[in-house]
Order: sequence, then structure tokens, then C-alpha cells
Amino acid sequence: MRVPIIAGNWKMHKTVGEALALVRELIPLVAQEEAVEVVVCPPFTALYAVARALGGTKVGLGAQNLFWEEEGAFTGEISPLMLKEVGVKYVIVGHSERRAYQRESDEEVAKKLKAAFQNGLNPILCVGEHLAEREAGQAEAVVAAQLKADLALLGADEVEKLVIAYEPIWAIGTGRSAEPGDAAQMAAFIRREVGRAFGERAAEMLRIQYGGSVTPANSRAFLTQEGIDGALVGGASLKAESFAAIVASAKK
Ligand code: 13P
Repeated sequence: MRVPIIAGNWKMHKTVGEALALVRELIPLVAQEEAVEVVVCPPFTALYAVARALGGTKVGLGAQNLFWEEEGAFTGEISPLMLKEVGVKYVIVGHSERRAYQRESDEEVAKKLKAAFQNGLNPILCVGEHLAEREAGQAEAVVAAQLKADLALLGADEVEKLVIAYEPIWAIGTGRSAEPGDAAQMAAFIRREVGRAFGERAAEMLRIQYGGSVTPANSRAFLTQEGIDGALVGGASLKAESFAAIVASAKK
């Protein structure tokens, strides 16, 4: 059975002080959740402090990016070893904002996914189409191409542990979420594609999140869809109350 996973992507928000205040407020609100996995992904500068604040709780720690080498002359990059050392368990890879602003390619995403698994980190891979691509009926083709390229270096034993966040780019930060039925259709498509490439077991175990303007008001509509196993939450994860309400809505 797939355990629902609700992850908060804080993006470039929260100083160390603000991050600590947020997790201290969040912990009592979500600590009792048994049936839902809860993850917060602060910026790098706050990871160490947040790791300490989360110690002993069931809230997991995630990072928003990593580099594929373990160490070396890579100015400004953070290695999987460094993340592991501070207690990071999950890492977001290939977010559309990185693909857009940092020109991150599918080849780089593939190397990052491999490096994460090799270092015992669980990646959350983001895929999703632009509005024009959806309107042109290309959404599935775009996501299929991303999956093919991004998963190219992985084996079935890794893919079964993967979390894939389907985040249609036009739904991110816009207040215009996807239709839950459309998101479920894409989740089913992703699972079929993974099944074709990596076998039924990997497809069955893989967890698929929806992301894009998820709020306490709409989260349940997504989380009750067949084959959607969680949410990747941006804006609504920056307040303890709204994030906790989304976590609560994930209970079966
Ligand atoms: P919003 O929830 O702010 O739309 O962001 C979604 C997202 O990009 C999560 O990774």
C-alpha cells in the first residue's frame, strides 16, 4: 500500500529564524499523523537548523536541489553527501522553476536522480507541461518525454522508491489548479509509462503527487483521486495552519 506523502516546497522563502518559527508551529499540528508522511523542504541555509528542530518527530526533511558529484570544484553547488549529513531524506529534483531559470536539462535531472539514490536520498521528481502544450493536446507527450529522459539512468529497484510530482507549469503559483480528474488522468498515464519501462512492481509502488496551487480548500479533491498519493505544496506550505490542514485532508 502506498502511504500518502505531503511535501512542502518552501522555495526561496524563510530565513533561518522564520524557518524555525514555522516548524515549531507545525510540529504539534502534524506530529500525530500516522497514516500520512509529512516532509518540509526549506532552503539550504535553513536545513541544519530545521533538522535539529525536527529531531525525534515524524516530520521528514527534504532539500530543493542537489548536485550529482559528491565533492569537487563545483562552486555554489551542494552534494548529496552534504545533504545526507545534515539529516535530509528527500530531495526535489527537476522542479520547473529550475528547468526555467537555471536551464536545468533532462540529462542533468537524470544524473541528479541517480546521485540521490546512490547516496540514500529519496528524490521527488517534478514533471509537467506548459499551458500551450496542454492546449495543443501535447501534455502526455511532454510528460512521457520527460520521464524517458529523466529516468534513463535508474533501475526498477530505484524507480519503485521514487516520488513523482505532476506539476503542470501553468498551475504553479497561479491560483489556477488543474482539474482533479485531469490530474488523476495524468497520474494514471505516468504509472502506465513507468510500468512499460520498469515493470508492474515499480509502477505499483511509485508514489505520484499533484502540485500546483494546492490549498486546504482543494486538496481533498486531489487526494481522493485514484492514483494520486500526495501533494507537493508551494505557497500554502509557508503557513503552519494551511499546510497542516492539507496534511489532515490526506487521511483516508
Ligand atoms: P504553489 O503551491 O505555490 O502553486 O507551488 C507549487 C509548487 O511548485 C510546488 O513545488
